[in-house]
Amino acid sequence: MSADAVDDAVRRWRALSETAVLLDGFHALKHALRFDARVPAMLTSDKAAVLALAEELAPDVRERLASLAVEVQGEVLRMLVPRAHPTGIAALAERPERAARLAALEHPHRPAPVVVLDNPRNLGNAGAVIRLAAGFGATGVVTTGSLDPWHPTVVRGAAGLHYATAVERLAVDELPKGPLYALDPEGKDIRSVTLPDDALLAFGSERSGLSAELRERADELIALPMRPQVSSYNLATSVGMALFHWSATPGGTARV
Ligand SMILES: C[S@@+](CC[C@H](N)C(=O)[O-])C[C@H]1O[C@@H](n2cnc3c(N)ncnc32)[C@H](O)[C@@H]1O
Repeated sequence: MSADAVDDAVRRWRALSETAVLLDGFHALKHALRFDARVPAMLTSDKAAVLALAEELAPDVRERLASLAVEVQGEVLRMLVPRAHPTGIAALAERPERAARLAALEHPHRPAPVVVLDNPRNLGNAGAVIRLAAGFGATGVVTTGSLDPWHPTVVRGAAGLHYATAVERLAVDELPKGPLYALDPEGKDIRSVTLPDDALLAFGSERSGLSAELRERADELIALPMRPQVSSYNLATSVGMALFHWSATPGGTARV
């Protein structure tokens, strides 16, 4: 590739990076492409290595990577992306339209639950939850509070799977309609509850659990089995168990 083409790619990167979503590394980019993200820029310090990795791990996206990738020196990549990923790949993707995300979340016949994280504090937990939601085919993940669910650390933790589910931040009084099951160790045993497909499954913050406002909106408090003297599970682990319970209820084998 000519020096002019590389300069153009770097200029383009700088212009887009203010608003676009940073996809860090091979897996994040692979997932985003599989779930129809629009990716206007991709840089790598080793194009041949990227294509070899794609050949081995994701042949379905190899051709798109081959046409997107612009090879730049390692130091150029490190200048543009301070925490460059070990795979030497970075890409910028457009955020999906907010209106489309809201339409999915507010759909009157949602085919799968919406996960609500009530004021989560840990970016890594939020990323892990989005990855779980994507894997189970959940309709979306809504956060309340100040954490930005599109923060680069959350996108990294979710391995780019923000494009596989609707990720949004809303206030408690803006949550989509539908039966809201709030997860709390004091609730009714989840094993006695059938979670409907249009449920909202809400989880409290790592520090203080469910807020008073969220409890007020809840239709039912439900608990994950846990032996006495253990006070709680990790947030993302709790989401995984609740989604598994939903997927395993009658008719669930067709869901994932
Ligand atoms: C780390 S816990 C919160 C612990 C917090 N110190 C508290 O006072 O609740 C994060 C969230 O995971 C969910 N959770 C954890 N263990 C649970 C259990 N045994 N049953 C139901 N939900 C649970 C709840 O939604 C909880 O608010």
